[in-house]
Formats: sequence, structure tokens, C-alpha cells
Amino acid sequence: MGSKAKGRTVMEVGADGVAVITIINPPVNSLSFDVLNSLKENYEQALQRDDVKAIVVTGAKGKFSGGFDISAFGKIQDGTVERPKRGWVSIEIITDTLEAARKPSVAAIDGLALGGGLEVAMACHARISTPTAQLGLPELQLGILPGFGGTQRLPRLVGLSKGLEMILTSKPVKGDEACSLGLVDAVVSPNELLNTARQWALDILERRRPWIASLYKNDKIEPLGEAREIFKFARAQTQRRAPNLVHPLVCIDVIEEGIVSGPRAGLWKEAEAFDGLVQSDISKSLIHIFFSQRGTSKVPGVTDRGMVPRQVKKVAILGGGLMGSGIATALILSNYPVILKEVNEKYLDAGVNRVKANLQSRVRKGNMTQEKFEKTFSLLKGALDYESFRDVDLVIEAVIENVSLKQQIFVDLEKYCPPHCILASNTSTIDLNLIGEKTRSQDRIVGAHFFSPAHIMPLLEIVRTKQTSPQIIVDLLDIGKKIKKTPVVVGNCTGFAVNRMFFPYTQAAILLVEHGADVYQIDKAISKFGMPMGPFRLVDLVGFGVAVATGMQFIQNFPERTYKSMLIPLLLEEKRAGETTRKGFYLYDDKRKARPDPELKNFIEKARSMSGATVDPKLAKLPVKDIIEMIFFPVVNEACRVLDEGIAVKAADLDISAVMGMGFPPYRGGIMFWADSLGSKYIYSRLEEWSKSYGEFFKPCTYLAARAAKGIPLSAPVEQVKSRL
Ligand SMILES: NC(=O)c1ccc[n+]([C@@H]2O[C@H](COP(=O)([O-])OP(=O)(O)OC[C@H]3O[C@@H](n4cnc5c(N)ncnc54)[C@H](O)[C@@H]3O)[C@@H](O)[C@H]2O)c1
Ligand SMILES: *[C@@H]1O[C@H](CO)[C@@H](O)[C@H](O)[C@H]1NC(C)=O
Ligand SMILES: *[C@@H]1O[C@H](CO)[C@@H](O)[C@H](O)[C@H]1NC(C)=O
Ligand SMILES: *[C@@H]1O[C@H](CO)[C@@H](O)[C@H](O)[C@H]1NC(C)=O
Ligand SMILES: *[C@@H]1O[C@H](CO)[C@@H](O)[C@H](O)[C@H]1NC(C)=O
Repeated sequence: MGSKAKGRTVMEVGADGVAVITIINPPVNSLSFDVLNSLKENYEQALQRDDVKAIVVTGAKGKFSGGFDISAFGKIQDGTVERPKRGWVSIEIITDTLEAARKPSVAAIDGLALGGGLEVAMACHARISTPTAQLGLPELQLGILPGFGGTQRLPRLVGLSKGLEMILTSKPVKGDEACSLGLVDAVVSPNELLNTARQWALDILERRRPWIASLYKNDKIEPLGEAREIFKFARAQTQRRAPNLVHPLVCIDVIEEGIVSGPRAGLWKEAEAFDGLVQSDISKSLIHIFFSQRGTSKVPGVTDRGMVPRQVKKVAILGGGLMGSGIATALILSNYPVILKEVNEKYLDAGVNRVKANLQSRVRKGNMTQEKFEKTFSLLKGALDYESFRDVDLVIEAVIENVSLKQQIFVDLEKYCPPHCILASNTSTIDLNLIGEKTRSQDRIVGAHFFSPAHIMPLLEIVRTKQTSPQIIVDLLDIGKKIKKTPVVVGNCTGFAVNRMFFPYTQAAILLVEHGADVYQIDKAISKFGMPMGPFRLVDLVGFGVAVATGMQFIQNFPERTYKSMLIPLLLEEKRAGETTRKGFYLYDDKRKARPDPELKNFIEKARSMSGATVDPKLAKLPVKDIIEMIFFPVVNEACRVLDEGIAVKAADLDISAVMGMGFPPYRGGIMFWADSLGSKYIYSRLEEWSKSYGEFFKPCTYLAARAAKGIPLSAPVEQVKSRL
């Protein structure tokens, strides 16, 4: 194997006659084709050598294997690497070499045994794991299915219902649970892992332990009639949960084939299904999202300078409101000691109680033990002054939006906090430069824009100004990851990336309604596309107060492309402010279940006469495809401006922002990836056409126009466009 090999395995034969084959491919010992080849070669050698009696497979540095090398999928998709012949891995290597070997093998599992990693382990004749090891088949998350025999072996080891559940939800189990399920045979401490596995392998050889080929295990599989009922139930549930996805259903078919026609037939069907799915748009989109999510922490000029994140040991938060308490919750959940500062006892109590309630809701749902609750909650300390700020490394300000108040706070922070301390603000509307105007700490002032509720929403926008130092960004990227957020670095503009991109989303919906489209049909079409809810249901949820406030901001900053409608103000006049008032675009019952309101049309007519919009009969019968395009192409248009202005670093960051900030369906690859699947020319021509009928709001921006003219993807880097001009 040449020096370019991506990973390998090594074999060491002990005096006890056990050959230990170790997978080495940092960071997660993923299974590249090189690793798989090497695994096969070492197995063959072990089988030939007279001094080898039994085999143990394990992974280097406490990780069995994180699964098939995901970067190879992309290469298979674009044809950069040749696809191996069908069944080469799952049948020739895993089944006919590993599982069929004349010498017994045992998997010694610590850390991760995910995807292909677990599939290799399941082909061994027994599995020993540590209690903390994670075992699972997460392939469906990438739009594919387990392709190394997992669809056949997992149900045979843990039973059909549990196997289906594990595969369909992609959720891993820990070592202890895996043991009770029958997925592993024994759980031992990491120190004992290798020795136990060696002994177990020898015991199998001497027939002191059973020699089991998982593929042919039958004792946990129900009789065919019962099995068919289980498949029927799984299909119905899957269609309900993910109506736009086909691959989970394909996966169920493959599992069923193995039960009905035997495991070997199942393996062949699995291989055939895998080859089809890996080329699907859904898989391409999900793999794009997988890498884009990891790519948000690569910021040119910032993260390529070799800077190391500084350690943050203590955090202070100003303001215990909804946002502050949510941020505090996220931090203590990741073991950061937090000081929460408020203006008086009453507000402080309220803030601390919000954090407590956030944690207690986890205890109630069974996601947190009482002991863990107490330990976590003890990390939070309240404060009414700045005395305890002398040793904090990060302050996050989350007080009400008031310029002079924030300016005063930053002057105080400069006085009390150590000079290395990161000073972050959660402001969404106030210029960061203005906030720091009265300080000399502009280089360590940065925006930390969380989404509400901050302890649940996964996105964190890190807002930099021209003065923010790269070190501060590197630090905040690290903290973002540690509190399990996906951090995206953006520049200063109204709404930053997410709110700015999605402002036209609501705007387009209202424009369409004023020109004759139906509120409920729009929401239905958008939900069907895969958004968690439609734009009108969303405005109800967020509340009209917030919608009007953000609307004002956009009208001020982008008057030429804001559609001015009186619809929401008119509804507000009647004390309809959304879900909290039980009336908005929908009516809400006690359980907050939404239903359409027949009276809504009166408000729409009034708003229409005020704006002078004319009803276009075409819009009343708009097909779903057109609704989706008329709502999302303006979002694409704004995303292009965000890129053009350098607010976002790269298109993939906007894909992640749309998925994590707005619930854009990940299986469509994010807003820009989706747009490019339709083509810049097409989007340009549609927007151009609508701008003639419905006004400036739809006018394509120059970035979009230039790319459409050259037929260049919207997500291509700027340099690429220049070189083609
Ligand atoms: N084989 C599969 O079908 C499959 C599907 C989904 C996830 N996984 C694996 O599950 C693990 C946990 O997933 P998560 O979403 O919680 O990720 P995570 O955020 O916990 O990341 C786990 C690690 O994946 C690493 N990684 C980066 N590039 C990789 C590559 N080309 N191949 C494999 N790993 C790579 C990252 O460095 C990171 O350390 C990952 O290791 C991932 O590879 C495997
Ligand atoms: C909490 O537990 C429930 C059920 O056990 C699970 O569905 C949910 O994802 C968990 N939530 C978190 C935040 O861990
Ligand atoms: C903003 O804060 C300043 C200083 O604390 C205060 O005097 C002023 O009344 C506040 N303005 C509003 C609108 O709340
Ligand atoms: C900042 O925090 C305040 C107080 O909780 C909140 O009203 C405001 O919406 C927050 N802003 C952002 C952008 O999070
Ligand atoms: C930051 O954005 C706001 C809102 O668009 C704007 O008023 C301000 O001038 C911007 N500041 C800088 C330095 O770009």
C-alpha cells in the first residue's frame, strides 16, 4: 500500500495465539476502502498462519470505528473513485471472509461502533464492549441504508422491532443497553477490554462459548405472519414521520427480504438498494449537510492562522430574561460555571427560576436524573453587581434592546472584567460598533446571536465587526461547539444571516395573499415541502409584536424591496397577536391546536384595499410547485445578497443557517444547494417574470443576474465567477 493510503489495519499475534487486528484511521477510525482492503488481507493472513488460533478486531485509541468514510460517498457520487463491484464489501469481505472464517473472531468495542463499524463488529462471532461505547446504525441520516450487512444482522441480534427502531431512528445505544439487547455479549471496563476479548475468542475455539454467525441467527425473529405485521406498522409510522423520504421505506423492504427469502438474498437486495440510494438527490443533499455542518468552523483569515482557542473557565450573563436564561441553561448543561446578573432581587429570582424550569423539564421527560439536575443547577450563581466578574473569561449581554443602556453596560464591563475577557452581546438590532463606542475594547466585542429558546435551538450566529479580533472568533467557535451549537460566523447587517434571508419568506406569503392566494393553502404547501410549519403559522407562533418590530427594521433598511402590507397591523388592532392571544391567522383552542378562521378574509380584504393590490385569479388556484417557488425564490434572492455583501463566508454556511435556524428540510440540502438543483437561470427568469406582475419585491439582485447570465451555480465561490468572466 502506498504512502497515500487512507488508513490501515495492523495485526499483532500474541503468545496466546490470538491475532489482534487494529483499525487505524484517525480521528474516528472510519472505514475507507484502504482500511477494508487491509482488514481483508490481515484476516486472510491470520487464517493462513499456524500460530494464529483466534482473532480480535478493535480500533486504535479507544474508538472501534465511526463507520464508512463519508467523504468516499461524495467521491462515488461524482465518479472520482470507481465504485467497487456489488457485494464486494458486504458479501466478499464481511460475510465470506470475516464471518465465514474457520477461526473465531471477537470484536473489542470502545468509543464508537457506528455504521460500517458496527456492521464489521456484528460479523464477528461475539462482541465485548465498554459501558460507554456507542453502537448504532445512523446511515439513514445520510439518505442511504446500512450497506455492510447491517440490515440483516442487527434484527437477528436484537429482534425485529428493536432492530427496525434502531435503524429507522438512527439512534445509537450505549454498551450496557446493547448488552441487555443481545447486541453485545459482555460489558467490561476499558482496561479489561482486550484481555476479555482474547479469552472469549479462545473460549469460542474451545467450545466453552457459542460460535455464532449473526447472519443465520433465527431465535429472535418472529414467525412470518407476525413479522409481516411488524413491517406493516413500521411502514405506516415511517410514512407519517417522513412523508417526503423514500429511503427508509426501501430499507424496510430490504430487511423484509432477508426475513422472507433468507439472509443471503437480503444481502444482495441490500447491495442493490445501496447502489441506487447512494446516487439519489436526497443522499447527496444529506451528505452535503453533513460536511457543511462541520465546515462552518472554517473561516478564511481566522481559523487558518494556527490560533488555539483559549480556555474559558467561567462565564457571566447579563439579563435573566427568556434569552439570558436559555443561554445560561445551555452553558451549565455543558459544565460551564455561570454567573447570572440582574438588576434586582425580583428579576434575578425570576431568571434563576427560568433556568431551573428548563432543567426540570428535562428531569420530567426522563432525560436527566435528579442527581445530575442538582449538580448542573449548582453551577449557576446569581449576582446583582459586578464584584464576581473579576475572573470571568466570557460575558454575554442579553438585556433589553436599548442603546444607551447597552453602552453603559459595556463601559462597566471594561472596568470590571479582566482584559482578556470576551465581551459578547445578544443584540439583533443594535450596531455592535455603537455598543462599544464608549470603550477601548472594540477588538474583543462580538455578537453572539442565539435563537429562542436558546437551550434548544441548535444554531449560534457569531457576529463580527471589522474590529473583532480573530482570536475572539476562534474562542467563540470553540465555546459554540462545546455547548453543542453549530456556530456560523457572519458580518453585521440587519437580521444577520438567518433573519435577513427569511424576512422575504413572510413577506412573499403576505404579498401572495393580498393578491388572491389562500393563507391556509400556502401553509399547507410549505409544510408539504418539508418546513416544520408554514409562514402564517410561524408568525402566529413568534407573535405579531415581534413580526411588526422586525418588519419596521427591514422597511427602514431595505425600503425598495419591502412589501408594505397593513394585514398584520390590522389584525393587531383587533387584539389578534398570534398564538399567545389564541387568535392570529388561525384560531387556537385550549391545547393550542390551530384551526382556520373564516373571518380572516375580512381583514385580508381591508388590507388589500389599503395597499391597492389587485386580485390575480391565477393566484387563487396556484399549484403547490408555484407556491413553493414564489415563497422561496425571494429567500434565495436575499441569500445571494447576503453572500454578495460578504455577510456570510460561503454558501454552505447559508445552507446550514437555513436548516438549523429555520427548519429548512436537510434532505433538500439547504437553501443554496436546493436553489442550485433548480439552476440560477431558471430562478432568475421566474423572479424577473414576477417582478413585472407584482413589483420590485421579486426583482433579482445583481449577484443572481450575473450568475444566471453565465450559467454558474449560485453557491460557486466568487473567484470562480471572476475567472469565468
Ligand atoms: N457510516 C455511516 O453511515 C454514518 C452515518 C452518520 C454518522 N456516522 C458517524 O457517526 C459519528 C457521529 O456522528 P455525529 O453526527 O454525531 O458526528 P460528530 O459531530 O460527533 O463527529 C464525529 C467525528 O466525525 C469526524 N469525521 C470528519 N470527517 C469524517 C469522515 N470523512 N468520515 C468519518 N468521520 C468523519 C469528525 O472529525 C468528528 O470527530 C461520526 O463519526 C460519523 O462519521 C456514520
Ligand atoms: C428526551 O427524551 C426523549 C424520550 O426519551 C427523547 O425523545 C428526546 O429526544 C430527549 N431530548 C433530549 C433533549 O435529549
Ligand atoms: C434606556 O436606558 C437608559 C439608561 O439606562 C434609560 O435612561 C432610558 O430610559 C432607557 N430607554 C428606554 C426607552 O427604555
Ligand atoms: C436579547 O435579550 C433580550 C432580553 O432577554 C431579548 O429581549 C432580545 O430579544 C434578545 N435579542 C436577541 C437577538 O437574542
Ligand atoms: C451594522 O448594521 C447596521 C444595520 O444595518 C447598520 O446601521 C450599521 O451601519 C452597520 N455598521 C457597520 C460598521 O457596518
